[in-house]
Amino acid sequence: MGLFSRKQKIDMSTLPNCVAFIVDGNGRWAKKRGMPRMMGHSAGIDAVKLTIDNAEKLGIKEVLFYCFSTENWNRPKKEVDGLFELFRKFINKEADNYLKRDFRLVLLGERSKIPSDIMEKVEEIEEKTKNCTKMKIGLCINYGGRLDIITATNKLLQEGKKCVTEEEFSKYLFSCDFSDPDLIVRTSGEKRISNFMLYQMAYSEFYFTDTYWPDFDQRELEKAICNFQKRNRRFGAIKE
Ligand code: IPE
Ligand code: IPE
Ligand code: MG
Repeated sequence: MGLFSRKQKIDMSTLPNCVAFIVDGNGRWAKKRGMPRMMGHSAGIDAVKLTIDNAEKLGIKEVLFYCFSTENWNRPKKEVDGLFELFRKFINKEADNYLKRDFRLVLLGERSKIPSDIMEKVEEIEEKTKNCTKMKIGLCINYGGRLDIITATNKLLQEGKKCVTEEEFSKYLFSCDFSDPDLIVRTSGEKRISNFMLYQMAYSEFYFTDTYWPDFDQRELEKAICNFQKRNRRFGAIKE
């Protein structure tokens, strides 16, 4: 009891710059409550909004949400359509006031398979918010780590490049506007990457929690950050 009620102490001087969330467990959250899976996804969108607010309060500069993977097309059409309907609503309602909040919004993923009305709106918001500096928000939709690497490679080949540096290569990835994630959080108890940020995670710290994504609140975010702050990041060197 004492342990749980103790307030987490976050060191504001060593916040992670970029935090990425693999937002898993919406379906199980709904099932546990005897609800249809879509209710879980809807609650999941609310948790994304809440996490954006909480990250802003802490002063985190970059957040990424893995919302739909290249493999998620294998789900039943009804669920896929339902998810895109939720993304559509989110983009149309929520993201519109990002300019006012000084948030930059970027979509990371292969865009041609995403419904065109959603992409039109996303591109409009990306353009409007391109100079916003308070926080960068990346929505990873139709994102796959392997697809990211292959798409970048093909772009480089089309440009006739024969040889590139790591720095140049990073500029061709979907994540070109973001730093490599310092911290990757996965909810729902699964301990796998599911094709997320394969290149960018070279030195990311991982935090796994059994909490289902719709229950990921301020306390959960603080727990993840506190845990991150206890790590000794050596980057291959030797540190005390
Ligand atoms: C995460 O929740 C949302 C997406 C992958 C789109 P899931 O839908 O994967 O939820 P579980 O894993 O079935 O509980
Ligand atoms: C990972 O969740 C992808 C997203 C959160 C978008 P999944 O639920 O699709 O992953 P697996 O199938 O359990 O690996
Ligand atoms: Mg899942």
